[in-house]
Amino acid sequence: MRGLILSGGKGTRLRPLTYTNAKQLIPVANKPVLFRVIEAIRDAGITDIGIVIGDTGEQVRSAVIESGLYDALNIQFIEQEAPLGLAHAVKISRDFLGDERFVMFLGDNVIQGGISPLIRDFDNHPEWNCQIVLKAVQDARQYGVAKLAPNGQVEYLVEKPAEPPSNLALVGIYMFDHHIFTAIDNIQPSARGELEITHAIQWLIDNGYVVHSHEHKGWWIDTGKAPDMLEANSHVLDELNHVILGTVDERSQVDSRVTIEEGAQIINSVIRGPAIIGKNTRIVNSYVGPYTSIYHHCTIEDTELERCVVLEHSSIRRIPYRLQDSLIGRHVDMDIADRRPLSNKLTLGDYSKVRLLDLKVIIE
Ligand code: TTP
Repeated sequence: MRGLILSGGKGTRLRPLTYTNAKQLIPVANKPVLFRVIEAIRDAGITDIGIVIGDTGEQVRSAVIESGLYDALNIQFIEQEAPLGLAHAVKISRDFLGDERFVMFLGDNVIQGGISPLIRDFDNHPEWNCQIVLKAVQDARQYGVAKLAPNGQVEYLVEKPAEPPSNLALVGIYMFDHHIFTAIDNIQPSARGELEITHAIQWLIDNGYVVHSHEHKGWWIDTGKAPDMLEANSHVLDELNHVILGTVDERSQVDSRVTIEEGAQIINSVIRGPAIIGKNTRIVNSYVGPYTSIYHHCTIEDTELERCVVLEHSSIRRIPYRLQDSLIGRHVDMDIADRRPLSNKLTLGDYSKVRLLDLKVIIE
């Protein structure tokens, strides 16, 4: 079997972080989502992996090549000239995939428990032409949704329905045999101008091919939006095997479920797990609360953070109130204003979101 990872796309929902960076490279518990996807496919025993890349292709390519995964696996990059849909990404990967069965994994999805059992099931059922993964969600309107017949067979799929026919959303992991190429050749672009994978799977169903569905019971996160990214980070931190490789001074308190990466320094601070502190980051006179990931080369000084994700080379100092539920980008510099006029001074990128405390409310 082969693996196909989709790492093109626009990433509009994660702006401003995705203006300059591929969303698949944003770290979850200090490891880019894309690397977690490659590892999940590798752990299922697949070594031939194609990665579809788009506008951010050069960045994705160099990050993967430098990651160590590239040398251990047979990875090929496949250029998609524009994000013309998930089915379009499959279509342009035909030479790489040949007639082999394959798993397609969206490069921004994180799933509990990996995909080894799914791959095994698909391998053991050569009569299945496709396997889709479903997850019961509260509000299915923003997803591809499956309607199952009483016997469990997939009856039909619908993309982002205003009135969902079920609560079963399509997880970004699909398994196919070569009939998917015939299906894609027989569909037209949707109203949003994309070749939709749901339409191609519907074509398989309508033409008598076997589309099997598996309901996933663990957590699944599509990291496309900031709150989802924080949630994915929390889930992965909960399941990490924690290690301390950096240094912790005698005045600091560090919980057992904390990872301190190489070269990181914890000085006179409290770190409550689960949390991860990245390479060469310094935490000084600070509190880092549960479900926080601070990436490499950051400085946190005289500050309290909880359930935050901070990306590389950022510096947060002397913030007088606790930062919570925040996603902070790269090279961000936050500090108090100690010169008059005493006012909030902000340099924010397009689409930034800021919620400031109303100090009047707090004082009352
Ligand atoms: P989406 O999240 O559906 O699309 P997007 O990346 O354009 O994001 P947004 O809606 O925020 O603008 O894509 C799912 C995954 O598939 C993601 O990793 C990007 C990738 N993708 C491709 O590689 N090619 C494509 O043509 C599309 C539509 C997505």
